[in-house]
Amino acid sequence: MYRIVSKERLAYKHTLFTVDAPDVAAKAKAGQFLIVIPREGGERVPLSICDFDRERGTVSFAFHEVGKTTKELGTFNEGDELFNVTGPLGNPSEIKRFGKVLCVGGSIMIAPALLQARALKEAGNEVVTVLACRSEEFLFKREEAEKISDRVYVASDDGTVGETGLDFLKDLLEKESFDRCTVIGPVVMMRTVSEMTRPFNVPTIVSLTPIMIDGMGMCGVCRVTVGDQMLFGCVDGPEFDGHMTNFDELINRQRSMLPEERLSSLLWEQKRGCRCGRK
Ligand code: FES
Repeated sequence: MYRIVSKERLAYKHTLFTVDAPDVAAKAKAGQFLIVIPREGGERVPLSICDFDRERGTVSFAFHEVGKTTKELGTFNEGDELFNVTGPLGNPSEIKRFGKVLCVGGSIMIAPALLQARALKEAGNEVVTVLACRSEEFLFKREEAEKISDRVYVASDDGTVGETGLDFLKDLLEKESFDRCTVIGPVVMMRTVSEMTRPFNVPTIVSLTPIMIDGMGMCGVCRVTVGDQMLFGCVDGPEFDGHMTNFDELINRQRSMLPEERLSSLLWEQKRGCRCGRK
């Protein structure tokens, strides 16, 4: 069992857990992910690693309470135990001195993006971080981003904080040259940023979030097409070349289970409090 050491509410339905998992923390690196099973017999959820502390033996992950299992996860509190936390899975981010790096994090994925940004800064890069959110109430960890970055931009879909949308990136890319761009967030956002960096030939790395089951290369559910190759998001990724990724296919695959996911979430809401015994 994996005890929840702390529960932090980042924003509405955006939650960050830090859990006791010394074996995972010992090997965790930026860019990797975990498979979390909240309770015995429960669903396996892939979640990006947002932080780790090797001395304390803890690892952190963030989630948006949007589906059945993430909603159920949100009912857990500090001191509760999760049935299983497997990891670290996937390949770590390539961290070295590239020069000037644009790090874009969107929505709940701002949290793992900051782990990448911090690692890139520690490797000697000039780091420009972009925090993208739906609206001001969904912005979090701005101060942390400012501490670890040379510069921070904030963008919101509705313009309630920072820039309105990500169009400002076009101007930024025209005025300044970047040696690398990393993007982690909603798939549509990763596709948009990849298309923006393409004309400027900025190598762009995206962290893909296909549907996963085992997370270890066995089920094949996480297939993604990158260039002319069919790859597995879990063992070949999760990071891929954003200019080579077939985002349309990924979006279609992600949506393929939406009716079942909605039904499952609805049924859980109806039974809430009966099956898991939590409020
Ligand atoms: S999640 Fe099963 S092969 Fe990748």
